Amino acid sequence: SLGPVAFSTPAAAPLHRPRRLRRTPQLRRLTAETQVNANNLIQPLFLRDGIDEPREITSMPGVYQHTRDSLRKAAAEAVTAGVGGIMLFGIPREADKDERGTGATDPEGILQTALRDVVAEVGDATVVIGDINLDEYTTHGHTGVLGADGDVDNDESVKLYARAAVVQADAGAHIVAPSGMMDGQVSHIRAALDEAGHHNVAILGYSAKYASHFYGPFRDAVESSLQGNRRTYQQYPGNIRESLREVELDLAEGADMVMVKPALAYLDIVRLIADRVDVPVSAYQVSGEYSMIEAAAAKGWLDRDGTVLESLTAIHRAGASQIITYWATEFAPRLGK
Ligand code: PBG
Repeated sequence: SLGPVAFSTPAAAPLHRPRRLRRTPQLRRLTAETQVNANNLIQPLFLRDGIDEPREITSMPGVYQHTRDSLRKAAAEAVTAGVGGIMLFGIPREADKDERGTGATDPEGILQTALRDVVAEVGDATVVIGDINLDEYTTHGHTGVLGADGDVDNDESVKLYARAAVVQADAGAHIVAPSGMMDGQVSHIRAALDEAGHHNVAILGYSAKYASHFYGPFRDAVESSLQGNRRTYQQYPGNIRESLREVELDLAEGADMVMVKPALAYLDIVRLIADRVDVPVSAYQVSGEYSMIEAAAAKGWLDRDGTVLESLTAIHRAGASQIITYWATEFAPRLGK
C-alpha cells in the first residue's frame, strides 16, 4: 500500500519528478516492468479442406483459410519469426459436416491433417497445439452433440472430445486445447491420452471462456453453422467467481495450463487467475479484438502497429504468460525473445 508521500506546495517546484525516468528511450527501457516476448506468442492458423488457393477471411483482413501448401508456409514463417507456438483449427467441407461432428474424431479429419503437415514442416522448432471441439464439424454448429432437449449433451460430448484428443496426439500435437466448455472435459481427455500412451501430451484448458460477441469474425473464419448462442455452456460476461471455479476444476482434472478468453475485455480475470494459480495462464486475443483494431486502422482512426503492441503489452502485464494472437507472426520479430 502507498504510505504518506511528502509533497511540496502547489506553487513550488515538485519534490518528486517521476518524469525523470521517462526522459529517454534508454531510461524507459531500463525501467520497463514487463515486456511481452516473441516466445510468449501463439499463432492460430486455419486449414480449409477442398480449396486450391488460400482465402482471405473477409472479417479478418490478413488472416487466411489455408490450403495444405500455404499452411506449411505459414507455419514455417511463424517459426522463422520466433513465435512460441502454433494453434491449429480445421475447417471441413460443408458436405462433410454432420450431427455428431465426426470430422473431429476422424484420424483423417482436416485438423489431424493440419497437425501432421505442420509437425512434418517445423518438427520440434515450435509448440504445436490442436483445438479440441466439435463446432467446426457439426451441422448445427454447437460444440457438442445435441440431446433430445436440443441442448448440448455434456457427457456424450466429452467422450468425443477424448477421442479427438487421441487422434490429435497421434497426429503429433504437443498440446491439446479443449475449447468446448463441457463439464469434465479435461479429465476425460487426460484419461484417454494416458490410456493411448500419450502421457507427454499436455492439456491447455480453455478454462474461463466467456460467451462473447468478440468471437463473431472467427465464426466467419471457420464457416460456423451456429444459429443462436452458446450461453448454456460458455460463461456470462459479468461473472468473476465462476472463472475461479472453472480454473480450479480444470486443474483438479489435470490441466497443465489454463486460458482466459477473450483477453482485452477480461484482463481483470487474467490478473485474478494469474495471482492464484501456479501454472501458466494463457489469454486468447480473439478474432473480434483483431478485427476491431484492423478495421479502425483501415479507416485511419487508430495507429495500427502502436495499438497492436499496446494491446499485447496490456495482456502480458495483466499476467498472461502466453498470448494467442492473430498478429503473432507479424509482430514477433519486433519483440524480444
Ligand atoms: C471453438 C473456438 C472458438 C474460438 C476458438 N475456439 C469459437 C467459439 O467458441 O465460438 C474463438 C476464437 C476467436 O474468436 O478468435 N472451436
